[in-house]
Amino acid sequence: MKQDQYILAIETSCDETAAAIVKNGHEIVANVVSSQIESHKRFGGVVPEIASRHHVEQMTLVLQETMEQSGLTFDQLSGIAVTEGPGLVGALLIGVNAAKALAFSKGLPLIGVHHIAGHIYANQLVAEMKFPLIALVVSGGHTELVYMKEHGSFEVIGETLDDAAGEAYDKVARTLKLPYPGGPHIDRLAKEGEPVIKLPRAWLEEGSYDFSFSGLKSAVINTLHNAEQKGVHIEPKDLAASFQESVIEVLVTKTLKAAEQYKVKQVLLAGGVAANSGLRNALKEAFGHKESIELVIPPLSLCTDNAAMIAAAGSVVFEKGIRSKMDMNANPGLELTSY
Ligand code: KG4
Ligand code: ZN
Repeated sequence: MKQDQYILAIETSCDETAAAIVKNGHEIVANVVSSQIESHKRFGGVVPEIASRHHVEQMTLVLQETMEQSGLTFDQLSGIAVTEGPGLVGALLIGVNAAKALAFSKGLPLIGVHHIAGHIYANQLVAEMKFPLIALVVSGGHTELVYMKEHGSFEVIGETLDDAAGEAYDKVARTLKLPYPGGPHIDRLAKEGEPVIKLPRAWLEEGSYDFSFSGLKSAVINTLHNAEQKGVHIEPKDLAASFQESVIEVLVTKTLKAAEQYKVKQVLLAGGVAANSGLRNALKEAFGHKESIELVIPPLSLCTDNAAMIAAAGSVVFEKGIRSKMDMNANPGLELTSY
């Protein structure tokens, strides 16, 4: 009988200090996330130096709690996975060094994981992945359509040319004087409002799976400023609803087209913006009647940054026999490559 595989993973690419243990690539044994949002809120965004300092303070505590939750000992672990990049370099370094120290001291294999591969593999914690598939990755730093023909194979077929979807949400929220991170606030407001304000949709050239959100973001800001100058009142909830409708229409239309063209069996949703209720509902509506394509949407807690997703992705890397060396460095600009 094959021995069970337990991967301990660490994630510190942005403003969550997280550790988790996942059994056989799909079963969460322990999952701990320490969020720093409260510390960054008053600055309206993540301050890299503060993020690094928090990671240093939290790392050991988060690891201890993870081990306690799991009831396992270090010698039962198969390997240590860690987010190698992309992300904030100072933040990544704390996780990478903690992982190296653990791997070295416990004599365990070290496994570097790409943050976006992690977001995609969050889906493996809720459903078996069926290939070929398309993943719509929408986070604070990324907006990508990724085609996967098998485990560990990533082909980016479309990406944002400017702002990421989450970035656009956060910037629009800031213009509306909503707290950071703004995505959930816009989402909540959008549900109360009506999409009555005309805003652009960037379809780009025919057949392109790329995205662009900076024009939409500017249109929202201009609409607000023009109204202010003219003394006209605009309902923030209507502006939020109109902005959200524009973002979702483009995301869902392009995902649907890609899924049909690539004849996929599954469509996965990934990244922090996957927590958006409007996007979740629109995707369910678009794919609900398509029996040949299964839509997988992870629960909210697995959409935003966490280490369970890094462990799930790391499990595949581990199975393929790929190991990172002890000179592995944090790589803020790491490309998503196949393995
Ligand atoms: O994946 P994530 O936790 O961090 C990155 O890797 O970037 O994503 C964070 C992003 C933020 O921009 C946040 O505003 C957005 O996800 N977000 C949302 C919602 N919840 C989080 N955006 C729209 N609607 C939401 N409900
Ligand atoms: Zn993320």
